[in-house]
Amino acid sequence: MTEQWQQDIGRWIRAGELLQATLSQPKRKDGSAAPKTVIRPVMLKNGLHYQFEYHAANKVTHDNVTGVQAGERLIELLQLQYRQALIKTPEADVQLLFNKKGKAAVLTKPPTGTARQAALQHNRQKQRVLEEGKAAPFLVELGIMTPEGHVHAKKQDKYRQINRFLEMVTDVLAYLPTGRELTIVDFGCGKSYLTFALYHLLAVEQQRSINIVGLDLKADVIAFCSELAEKLGYDKLHFLVGDIAEYEELQAADMVVTLHACDTATDAALAKAVNWGASVIMSVPCCQHELFRQISSDTLSPILSQGLLKERFAALTTDAVRGTLLEVLGYKVQMLEFVDPEHTPKNLLIRAVRNEQQGLSMKKWEQYRQFRQFLSISPALEQMLSERWPAPSE
Ligand SMILES: C[S@@+](CC[C@H](N)C(=O)[O-])C[C@H]1O[C@@H](n2cnc3c(N)ncnc32)[C@H](O)[C@@H]1O
Repeated sequence: MTEQWQQDIGRWIRAGELLQATLSQPKRKDGSAAPKTVIRPVMLKNGLHYQFEYHAANKVTHDNVTGVQAGERLIELLQLQYRQALIKTPEADVQLLFNKKGKAAVLTKPPTGTARQAALQHNRQKQRVLEEGKAAPFLVELGIMTPEGHVHAKKQDKYRQINRFLEMVTDVLAYLPTGRELTIVDFGCGKSYLTFALYHLLAVEQQRSINIVGLDLKADVIAFCSELAEKLGYDKLHFLVGDIAEYEELQAADMVVTLHACDTATDAALAKAVNWGASVIMSVPCCQHELFRQISSDTLSPILSQGLLKERFAALTTDAVRGTLLEVLGYKVQMLEFVDPEHTPKNLLIRAVRNEQQGLSMKKWEQYRQFRQFLSISPALEQMLSERWPAPSE
């Protein structure tokens, strides 16, 4: 049976979260293992790898391996050769201590590896998921790259946006289930640059078994996307015409994406995602009009009496409501900058990952109730998920 520490190592490596591991105290003193081995992520031309640095008495040797190989080798070294490991991740410093029978004691402390993480992030940003000079067929077909792999000057922003999106997806892949086909839905997919990109990353590059559905109201756009998927041979990518709120064709989905779906269409997508038990949600809201019409507060009149300020405040409030309601339901939520705000003001991405161990958070619910009472609002997402909230206390 795979032990928890082995699962954790696999998860950290898949998510690019292993910042450093130091293995020490060899089990045997006969020199068969280096007294110390240090493992670090390194960004090579062909992507993220891990460097194993073996510190023997008078020499240090190196070896670079892929993520999958690194996970396997690290676990094997800990099973066979070392009694101790200190593993640094963005969330914690984790110490593993193995007894004579090979049983691990795990000690977790606050993280000290943030500087290294920043360096890695920096490297990662330079190394885009879709590299210039290497033509991806979908980018050529969508008119972003030439067949030689050069990005058209006018499509640089789109190219950056696609790469940014894929980086953000890569960061949460570890939260998706493994060992079976994944179902992903893109609500309000439009011309589907990002849906094709997601398929390219997961099905073509990573060879994962996935099934993606793109849904949109516009029949002509869906016809275009269906034709393109067929032309590219993306046989597990399907497009359908339909309204998000009325889409009933699935019982479950692992990941829901909704990028720039207008106003409460985003809420309908989030409600579906929650009801399907989606492990990952990526949402960039757009045209948040709903609360603009509802918000009222005398205390906030310096903001609410100015149309422009009110509009921005209402948009922030809408996203705060969405994020908090997802947290009430046990999701871990991050609000991220999607693209440089100079290109579009619609640049906030809500990224949520489900924590299966986390039930309803009464603390978050109470915060939410006070917030919505203060602003006299009745948000669509709360109504759409009305059966999920704690019953009012007597
Ligand atoms: C601004 S576009 C964004 C397209 C794409 N997701 C992107 O980010 O590039 C918004 C899309 O959402 C679709 N949409 C809006 N409301 C919808 C609804 N209720 N059901 C399905 N699609 C919807 C629109 O038809 C439009 O194609």
